[in-house]
Parts: sequence; structure tokens; C-alpha cells
Amino acid sequence: MAKVVVTRKIPGSGIKMLQEAGFEVAVSPQDRVLARNELLNFIQGADGVLTQLNDKVDESFISAAGANLKVVANFAVGFDNLDLPALLSHNIVATNTPDVLTEAVAEHTIALIFAISRRIVEADKLARSQTLEFGPSVLLGMELNGKTLGILGLGRIGSRVAEIGKAVGMEVAYYDVKKNSEFESKVGAIFKITPEELLAVSDIVSIHVPLLNSTKHLINAERLKMMKPTSYLINTSRGPVVDEVALTQSLKSGVIKGAALDVFENEPRLSPGLENLANVVLTPHIASATTEARSAMGELAAKNIIAVLSGQSPLTPIKKP
Ligand code: GLV
Repeated sequence: MAKVVVTRKIPGSGIKMLQEAGFEVAVSPQDRVLARNELLNFIQGADGVLTQLNDKVDESFISAAGANLKVVANFAVGFDNLDLPALLSHNIVATNTPDVLTEAVAEHTIALIFAISRRIVEADKLARSQTLEFGPSVLLGMELNGKTLGILGLGRIGSRVAEIGKAVGMEVAYYDVKKNSEFESKVGAIFKITPEELLAVSDIVSIHVPLLNSTKHLINAERLKMMKPTSYLINTSRGPVVDEVALTQSLKSGVIKGAALDVFENEPRLSPGLENLANVVLTPHIASATTEARSAMGELAAKNIIAVLSGQSPLTPIKKP
């Protein structure tokens, strides 16, 4: 009987699907990220592993699992935790969970945009303090209508954020390595040929690129200075795309107006000083955390494992970025 290891409990019927497919299914009894040694022990003898984005899958993972390992199904759309060349060299299929979380992540991005531009978290604290009444100049924010939403990375999630931004009256500009004329005419979006041009025109910059060598610290001190001093930076992609120390400094010194972040360079830690700033909204990597998305992610990961272990093609194999 093939053995499938699930490194952390997941919502929805993914685990049941694996059991009903006839596999021996071992689900981590701990509802937390496994320490490296726990993880490497737990995956021994697996034919398939359903991994989390905080499980690093590299040569040591592959050798700990052993020679039967045929598929690693990552419970995430992002896959920077996987060493794809290593998996390929051992003929192990890698899959991710695109599409099923697009809406959840796009909605969370929009929630962060509203939260930072209308100072919702600051206002919530003040309302709870029961000290602040209505005042003409109290907690002024920025309207989105008519402002420019700059999308950095026009993949599935970036495109959906752009559509919702348009629906709330924003102008949309985008930068991507590929120009998308069809999307431009559908949404009325304007293509900027460099990230720098996008940063210069945007009131809100929202990051939707994968983490690659070429995107690490894409937003650094120099590029932050190219943004408008009245603008906001939103990141729901991967923390290391932004130089967080440089961002913290820029937020302190007023280089940009504020930031709303769901991802961080060294999760769950924050760069020193970030937690003390009033002009940031922070959420702990929850952009895809809806019951709908997380259940569908588990089910898609399970379907990928079932397909591969039954000799069929996976539904969502990871393609080289
Ligand atoms: C979450 O960050 C994901 O990549 O799915």
C-alpha cells in the first residue's frame, strides 16, 4: 500500500480523499510547523508528501523520504520552498495549488488596501480606547476612487486585484515581464515598461510576483525612493521580494506613506521596529485563509497525489517559472 504523508492537518476533505483512494495516510499529529528533524523523520518511506510552504524540500528531504518518493504536492501556489532541479533529477513530480486561492488572496489584498488607506487598524485601537470623538481632521485617509493602482506582476492574482481595483474606481497600471494587450483592453490597464515607471505613477503598489533570484529585494531602498511620498506598498506575495529593513526605514522617515504586509522576510519574525509603526497594517501570511480556498487547496493537492500515484498526469504540475 502506498504511503502518503501530510505534514500538517488541513481543512476540507483532502485527507479523506487520500484515505478513500486506498493509501496509508500519516497526518502530522502536531498542528504546527514541524521542526526539521521531526519533518525528516516523519516523511520516511513516503510515496507522496503533502507539504506546507514552510517545509523546505531539498536533497536532504528527498533522501530522508527515501527511494519511493514520487510526488510532492505543495499546499500553496508559491513554491520557493521546493528545490525543483533536485526534485526533477530524482524524477519526483512537484505540484502546487493555483487558481483555487486566487479570489481569497485578491480579496485579502483589497482588504489590506482599504485597511491602510482608511487607517482601519489605528481607528479600531482608538475606538476601543473610548477617548476619541468625531473630529473634522481626525484620522484622515486617502480615497481610492481616481487613484492609480500599480500591479507589480500580472499573474492570476495580480490580474484579479486589478479587476477589483478597477471596480472601485481606480486607474490600473501594471508591470510584468510580459505585456498583456488582451488584459489591457479588457480592464483598461496601462502597461509600464519598467518597474521604476510603475512605482513613479502609482498611489498604491501591490506586489504579485513569485520569489525568484531575480525578484529578491525587487523593492529596495532605491526603488522605495522612486515611489510617491503619498503612496502605499502592499505585499501579499513573498516577504523577501521586499528589503524589509529598507522598508522599515522608509516608513519611519516618510519616504512612502504606509505599507500593508501579509508576508515577511523571516516569518514569523518582523524586522526590528516594524511592529512599532502606526503606518503599517500587518497580517501573518493569511491571504489565502478562507475556508473555501484552504479546503480547495487541500483537495487539489490530494487529487495531484492520487493522480501521480495511480500513474496518471497531475492536474497542476509546477512548470518552470
Ligand atoms: C501562499 O502564500 C501560497 O503561495 O499559496
